[in-house]
Amino acid sequence: MSANEFTVQQLLERVNTTRRAEGQGNERVRQITARIVADLFRTIDELDVNADEFWAATDWLSRLGASGQMGLITAGLGFDRLLDIRADEADRRAGRAEGTPRAIEGPLYIAGAPLSRYETRLDEGEPRGEVLVMEGRVLDEQGQPVAGALVDVWHANEQGRYSHFDPEQPPYALRRRIETDAQGRYRFRSFLPPGYAIPPGSPTAELFEALDRHGNRPAHIHFLIAAPGQRLLTTQVNLPGDTFIDDDFAFATRDGLVLTLEPGTPPQGYESLGVNAPFTRVRFDFKLQRALDEDESKPLARMARVKA
Ligand code: DHB
Ligand code: FE
Repeated sequence: MSANEFTVQQLLERVNTTRRAEGQGNERVRQITARIVADLFRTIDELDVNADEFWAATDWLSRLGASGQMGLITAGLGFDRLLDIRADEADRRAGRAEGTPRAIEGPLYIAGAPLSRYETRLDEGEPRGEVLVMEGRVLDEQGQPVAGALVDVWHANEQGRYSHFDPEQPPYALRRRIETDAQGRYRFRSFLPPGYAIPPGSPTAELFEALDRHGNRPAHIHFLIAAPGQRLLTTQVNLPGDTFIDDDFAFATRDGLVLTLEPGTPPQGYESLGVNAPFTRVRFDFKLQRALDEDESKPLARMARVKA
């Protein structure tokens, strides 16, 4: 055969052959790309993927990228939870103390939400839905309160949509940052959020229909919690009783993160949050792991880390 006629194996070798001596380019990118391309070649071969199927897949990927929904697909196909499972396993191997379970960040975080000390309202203006106050403390591995921790919290609106991604909502609606007080306490008022569903008609929904999977998440509230010397905690808490509590399309629900609701809590002591009738309270303490280095304590969400 001439130099330009290839078997599949020869083609793969050529794809993965560097131009120059070792040490050029990015070795890690090279290694991972070589593996993924090899795996895809094998998939195409073993499943006898035809040209129409292949180009339909690339068209779908183009539309997925253009729609900005890459983060929805990674969650729905289990990659986000996979990273958490691997982090949990690494912690166990290293004998690290357990904190509040981590749960996926999801694709809908926005940095820079308004900052308050100790308490705030996430919902603005008129009362919406069932009044919720969530309160508790941020603790370290020894159970000691962490003063000045930053609690970054966000959740969906009544339609299951997140501000910023939903042009109908004001900037930072249902997104706030709270700095814990000297006793490590935080509290906020909002309303009980509903569940979330992937946008209908989107590339993500298209794949999930083809897979005969639903795209629903149970009602949840997201947190990023940061403090100097503490490992950044990314987690979510879930409202009990949701239909999808044990069937989350993004696999983000976890034991230890399902809240206990206290409906009918009297309003005394909650006046500063504008609460003047019985409401639903939830109490939840977050336990942080001690950071082993500066990198672990950086208060950066996942994409900010990548770009830092
Ligand atoms: C997705 C949506 C969420 O609200 C979330 O927390 C995680 C993932 C998603 O659409 O993939
Ligand atoms: Fe979410």
